[in-house]
Amino acid sequence: MKITKAVVTAGGLGTRMLPATKTVPKEMLPLADKPVIQYVIEEAVASGISDILVVTNRAKSAVDDYFDYTPELEEKLASAGKIEELEAVRRTADIANVFYVRQKETLGLGHAVWRARRFVGNEPFAVLLGDDVTMADVPVTRQLIDAAEQYGASAVGTQRVPADAISKYSSLKVEPLGGRVFRVEDMNEKPRPEEMFSEYAILGRYVLSHEIFDILEGTSPGYGGEIQLTDGLRTLCRRSPMVAVDFEGRRYDTGSLRGFLEATVDFSLKHADIGEWMREFIKKRAGEL
Ligand code: UTP
Repeated sequence: MKITKAVVTAGGLGTRMLPATKTVPKEMLPLADKPVIQYVIEEAVASGISDILVVTNRAKSAVDDYFDYTPELEEKLASAGKIEELEAVRRTADIANVFYVRQKETLGLGHAVWRARRFVGNEPFAVLLGDDVTMADVPVTRQLIDAAEQYGASAVGTQRVPADAISKYSSLKVEPLGGRVFRVEDMNEKPRPEEMFSEYAILGRYVLSHEIFDILEGTSPGYGGEIQLTDGLRTLCRRSPMVAVDFEGRRYDTGSLRGFLEATVDFSLKHADIGEWMREFIKKRAGEL
């Protein structure tokens, strides 16, 4: 079945980026000239997704405003002949069919995904974390969809992380299937070093069977008192096939200061107008260090 729906989770509080995120959602912080969430939605669209549900909360109305029309601004830009700016502003509003649902309580990523059950219905769907941005030749969500279709399975995005960093992620128990794809046998959330299955961590992208909703419905709060998506995925991988895709490309956790700054540098370097300037600026600064 063709995968056309995606859920972008943006219901978290963003405490790692305070005070910046006290009034501005972390998904609205800019990387070069676009907010984080625009990169995420562009990845979904480039992967063949047409309908996107963003899970927000009461502090994130700037997100839905961003993907709306802005008649007063657009009229001003049109009458001033600022066509490039006008097109950039319009493009964001016409990017895809974007829907919103609020997570009324911050009960965890598993709960945020569960809020999408009516939007998704009985189809497989993609999940993209709204603060995880990727840079890849083939969009990472597309890489997952391709593997999910090939193996008739759910898929999680993975890359190896250093063993001493795995406690920040979910660790996967995997068996090679071919190329960059593995069969998922088990997983655990934020394991201690002695509990980890492997250095393959789940990183921010998923293609899931709708079965996950029934599973999440019955999932009790886990690590940190939140309903963990990983706990639901653990049950899902025992019930139906799941693969892990060691995706090609870079991934940035822009919800952390380091990830945000790395992404700022890398996306600025790739930017058509300022990339060359940024390269020279970095060289100049590096020479001074
Ligand atoms: P994070 O682990 O980044 O948590 O969530 P957070 O609350 O957003 O940020 P910090 O840790 O306080 O800085 C991972 C993903 O899950 C979403 C977040 O928006 C992010 O996309 N999430 C998390 C929700 O949508 N709802 C939640 O209740 C928790």
